[in-house]
Amino acid sequence: MTEIEKYYSFLDIDKIERSELRKILNAAIEMKRDLKGGIRQKLMKDRHLGMIFEKSSTRTRVSFEVAMNQLGGSSVVLTTGDSQLGRGEPISDTARVLSRYVDVLMIRTFRHETLIELAEYATVPVINGLTDYSHPCQVMADIMTIEERLGDIEGKLVAWVGDCNNMANTWTQAAETLGFHLHISCPEELSPPSRQSEFVKFFVDPKKAVAGAHCVTTDTWISMGDVEGAEYKCALLSKGYQVNDDLMALADKQAIFLHCLPAHRGEEVAASVIDGAQSAVWDEAENRLHIQKAILLWCFKLL
Ligand code: CP
Ligand code: NVA
Repeated sequence: MTEIEKYYSFLDIDKIERSELRKILNAAIEMKRDLKGGIRQKLMKDRHLGMIFEKSSTRTRVSFEVAMNQLGGSSVVLTTGDSQLGRGEPISDTARVLSRYVDVLMIRTFRHETLIELAEYATVPVINGLTDYSHPCQVMADIMTIEERLGDIEGKLVAWVGDCNNMANTWTQAAETLGFHLHISCPEELSPPSRQSEFVKFFVDPKKAVAGAHCVTTDTWISMGDVEGAEYKCALLSKGYQVNDDLMALADKQAIFLHCLPAHRGEEVAASVIDGAQSAVWDEAENRLHIQKAILLWCFKLL
């Protein structure tokens, strides 16, 4: 956790204490309930969020923008193409300038080091909106969804099947921090977790990974910016790593299916699963809005 006097930055789940993560999850559930009951507290009145997107986004951009509006604040978006970042202005200079205008920054970028550098030079809180290494806002929304459907995540089993990407890395951090079991299954060639622990286990065979799982989750086989070796990767993953009905049948009877979206039906997930009764993906997408609000408030120590 980065603490500089008055605020926290939300960079990665393993940098935040479990009790703080619980505060964020609980606040998100409470704010979701309030919103459905017509209550909107303007807790970010007159605060402004600056968002930098070096990669595409639908959910992250809209949920943060709406979150700020519902909380009484505002947001401004910069993309590489329409800002001086695209012409080579350093992230360190951008951080110092934007900190003079806005109260909090969110960045979606390629290199994780860019996020760290932004946080180092900014004098306002920084939120990780996805890097090649991690995607913590998404995994927090996923955990919220699991808890809504199945109760406390502690002790539950989540099975990750597919590419060992930024989402898989963040799931690993979350399992160790929040104390749930994570089974990761991908071909050995695709950088499975180098370290296994009490909470994280690796399986080449996806059937073994999903056995008895309370949640089965996956993501695109080709992430943004993942251009090299894409065909090779898809060829490896198409040999048994699609989440389909046969795989779901091995999970717990009450198991839910999650996917951060965008999804590719017929690749990482069968249409019958993502559009089927066990899928919780629309709640998961909605929960980005509620968790975003809680993360924003947490950054200002308002939880
Ligand atoms: N899941 C997610 O982060 O979606 P976007 O890429 O649309 O923001
Ligand atoms: N792993 C995906 C997640 C998209 C939200 C990517 O990085 O493209």
